[in-house]
Amino acid sequence: MKDSQISSPSNLHSSSSGPEDSKTADSPSIAFLGLGAMGSRMARRLVESGHDVALFNRTPMSRAPWGQPLTKDGGVRLAASPASAVEGAQVVISMVRDDEASRAIWLDERSGAATTLPPGALAVEMSTVSPSWSSELSRRLEFGGARFVEAPVVGSLPQAETGQLLIIAAGREHAVDDARPVLEKVGSRVLEVGSPPAASSLKLAVNALFAGQLALLGEVLRGLHGLGVERERSLALLGETPVLSAAAAANGRLMIDGSEPLFPIDLVVKDLGYAYSMVDAVGVEAGSIEEADGSSEGRQQGSVLRAVYDVFEEARLAGLGGENITAIGG
Ligand SMILES: NC(=O)c1ccc[n+]([C@@H]2O[C@H](COP(=O)([O-])OP(=O)(O)OC[C@H]3O[C@@H](n4cnc5c(N)ncnc54)[C@H](OP(=O)(O)O)[C@@H]3O)[C@@H](O)[C@H]2O)c1
Repeated sequence: MKDSQISSPSNLHSSSSGPEDSKTADSPSIAFLGLGAMGSRMARRLVESGHDVALFNRTPMSRAPWGQPLTKDGGVRLAASPASAVEGAQVVISMVRDDEASRAIWLDERSGAATTLPPGALAVEMSTVSPSWSSELSRRLEFGGARFVEAPVVGSLPQAETGQLLIIAAGREHAVDDARPVLEKVGSRVLEVGSPPAASSLKLAVNALFAGQLALLGEVLRGLHGLGVERERSLALLGETPVLSAAAAANGRLMIDGSEPLFPIDLVVKDLGYAYSMVDAVGVEAGSIEEADGSSEGRQQGSVLRAVYDVFEEARLAGLGGENITAIGG
């Protein structure tokens, strides 16, 4: 498919019933930006479900990560820049590392996606980014005429591979509904939560709860081991109680068995940093408890989230940044 053959974004919601229109409505052309561990798996699902997909990755590649040759004329086009990838695209998805990467992908003055984003296109940021950045990005892209959806994902590489991600989505007007047919190709559920930055905020809350549980689980398993209870046995016993969540139980298993780096500690630290800044910005990070007799102004509470961040940051500084999140329990 050549760029000139990609259908115009205005066809995305056309009520016309011509064969070309029904094809684009069912199967809009997509630009997918960022082919890392998650992005490559998600992009593959879109390619295999029949979409015309233009791919971009900062580090150039001659084949898709799943082995398919990338050509200018096949169903999968490799673009040299985000700007080139999004020319004529109806839906643009970004799945990159962090705020800085997202800024480069969308807003770089020379090569960013925003420089060629067609008016009315759906701009979907699926990376885990900070709410403050997502708000800024949404303003800037909408000012340029695009419709913005933030759609971070819950789940890791196995869920990305099989299309079982849980997607938390926020957008204005009907943007999430319009993005839903594409999102449902990479996720099994799309939870709509209002306008940006509600989705990025909730995603960070999910990761804060997840990382906090694993930090605490790792610590109690080590403590119990020190007291003579094998980790295997502790995990089995804790699993008999209602207090161990399904996620903590599954990841406790990986703490014991070891795991490939599905969700590396480097990314965990990034997300916890965003989460801490998010709660800090609204002043709820350190609450204060009044003295029972009301005798003083109260006692400052420390931030649990800050403590969890510190645990993972220490692990990163100790050289575990590339290891799976469950290495915290090692
Ligand atoms: N791994 C998980 O379990 C998981 C789960 C849910 C959500 N997420 C989130 O999903 C996103 C992607 O994660 P991942 O696991 O796929 O990470 P990854 O494998 O490290 O891939 C990161 C991607 O971002 C690109 N990138 C990094 N810095 C860039 C920059 N400055 N400019 C342009 N592109 C840049 C990389 O390009 P290069 O190839 O050139 O480095 C690569 O394509 C992150 O926001 C992460 O927090 C991850």
